[in-house]
Amino acid sequence: MNVVTLPSTEAIAELAAKHYVEVLTAKPDAVLGFATGSSPLPTYNRLVELCDAGDVSFADARGFLLDEYAGLPKDHPQNYRTWLNEQFISKVNFQEGAVQGPEGDKDDPFAAAAKYEKALVDAGGVDFQILGIGTDGHIAFNEPGGSLSSLTHPQVLNEQTLVDNARFFDGDVNQVPKYSITQGLGTILRAKDIILIAQGEQKAEAIAAMVEGGVSVRWPASVLQFHNSVTVILDEAAASQLKEKDFYQYVWEREQELRA
Ligand code: GLP
Repeated sequence: MNVVTLPSTEAIAELAAKHYVEVLTAKPDAVLGFATGSSPLPTYNRLVELCDAGDVSFADARGFLLDEYAGLPKDHPQNYRTWLNEQFISKVNFQEGAVQGPEGDKDDPFAAAAKYEKALVDAGGVDFQILGIGTDGHIAFNEPGGSLSSLTHPQVLNEQTLVDNARFFDGDVNQVPKYSITQGLGTILRAKDIILIAQGEQKAEAIAAMVEGGVSVRWPASVLQFHNSVTVILDEAAASQLKEKDFYQYVWEREQELRA
């Protein structure tokens, strides 16, 4: 893992957006993996600006969401596909239908999950995936205690996630759907290239466990230690429990010099 700590939300978004530009310049028809949530939003906003300026194009790209609440109507504002479409997809130049997500409104969530896993395989896999992280260490909606090699599956959400996400549902934990359909950890590990963004003190414990702890289903994001191309972009607060933060920063800066 490469771990870099940056001073501002703007700097984080700039670095992540620059990576999208590199990926799409090298491969205009790249398959992109999208996370929802507050962590990638500034990056998406920056990409809208870059697209408006003609500095990046999504015209030939395809996209896959990481996860989706189960049981929310498609037009609910917190339906992840609706949210991502409103915040980002509709603001750049993706072709109609180029971005898909798990179908959380089907009677058989297992069949919907298997169908989505197949769609990812049929698309040739994800070239570049952006991730956030939950305070309990989940990525996508892979909660503690699952399988480190899981494929797309229905996932019961744990209490911490319901509490964390209640802020998007009028602060009412009872309105948060109790389960989701999520790409599995094994699915995410197949992405060729990954950036994970985390900001804020509330993410610090999960980040330390992911980067410096043992690989364990207690902290699902720790499975990323097995991936050979992960860049973790943090603010100072999210990095605050890392024991070797200064060393990671030193390595990052030296590697940028080598690549320059
Ligand atoms: C949700 C999503 C994750 C996201 C996480 C963190 O549970 N399923 O994909 O990474 O929340 O969200 P945020 O970036 O808003 O803190």
